[in-house]
Amino acid sequence: MEIMLTGIRSTGTPHLGNILSVIIPSVSMSNKNTKHSSFIFIADLHSMVQIENIKTIKAIKDNTYKIAATWLAFGLNIDNCLFYRQSDVSSVTELAWYFNCFYPYQRLALAHAFKNENKKIDKGKISVGLFTYPILMAADILLYNAKIIPVGKDQLQHIEIARRIANFFNKKIGQKLFILPNAFLHKKNMFVPGTDGKKMSKSQKNYINIFSSDEILKKQIMSIRTDNKSVEEKKNPETDYIMHLYSLIAPMDKIEIMKKKYIKGGYGYYEAKIALYEYIIHKFSSERKKFIYFMKNKSLLDHILVLGSRKAKSIADERLNCIRKHLNFNSII
Ligand code: TRP
Repeated sequence: MEIMLTGIRSTGTPHLGNILSVIIPSVSMSNKNTKHSSFIFIADLHSMVQIENIKTIKAIKDNTYKIAATWLAFGLNIDNCLFYRQSDVSSVTELAWYFNCFYPYQRLALAHAFKNENKKIDKGKISVGLFTYPILMAADILLYNAKIIPVGKDQLQHIEIARRIANFFNKKIGQKLFILPNAFLHKKNMFVPGTDGKKMSKSQKNYINIFSSDEILKKQIMSIRTDNKSVEEKKNPETDYIMHLYSLIAPMDKIEIMKKKYIKGGYGYYEAKIALYEYIIHKFSSERKKFIYFMKNKSLLDHILVLGSRKAKSIADERLNCIRKHLNFNSII
């Protein structure tokens, strides 16, 4: 059976972009499809690459709960998948070390996540962890021989690196120890604009957090950038970000109605924003309630994650043992 695996970093509450492009499609793939087994994990070790002080370390743990609560609020069925915390399965870091030793330095130096940080590198603000980020990600995937990897477009290079590592390793060892993973891009909802029209992202601070209080959510939506057409003027539904977001979540008939209002004129951006806000509140009302419930019951989240981690760990340890054998190290189980 093929394995689908995906991870999400614990760097804050997942925003609407993460939810539409990764969480909702992955939950439905995981819950419906019996053709593959799914592994979904919280990449808390990856979050550590930006550690600044003890406060950030604590925040990672808290964020882990927020991520778990989001997946569960969106209906992830934990009887159907392995849902775990990356840091609970320590074999992954050992495998990452082996990959570190096999992979050429120059190739990794070309990875975009690292290359784009030149200024920070000069100031000594980039950790070795950030540099080897793609290696740990390859270990996440290859440890379980996962084949289908749902990710956002920005992660394609990382999957390519994982494929290269698998190939390298297989060649050096002379055996097909690792299967090559494939990125899986969810076609629908691939580009989710943030409030400034650029891709919604935590680091750009242009995100919409559907789990915020009504008031803050409204503020975020009100900050969506528009042109300065007056209420009376006709507007272009194809280029406007409010319309774009609305069409990612609303049903066809509602989208058509809004489009017509744009084209006709006499419909202001303020009204469109209110419509978007109200639709988000309506559409995600049950998820918002569940999220609050889980966040109030962190011991339940811990329990769920520990159960998942135990299962993941037993599979991972067995695989690692097999890899260790090929490297002439002693058995650990
Ligand atoms: N790097 C991914 C992101 O930022 C998270 C991640 C870590 C991941 N390990 C993974 C995704 C393995 C898929 C598979 O979104």
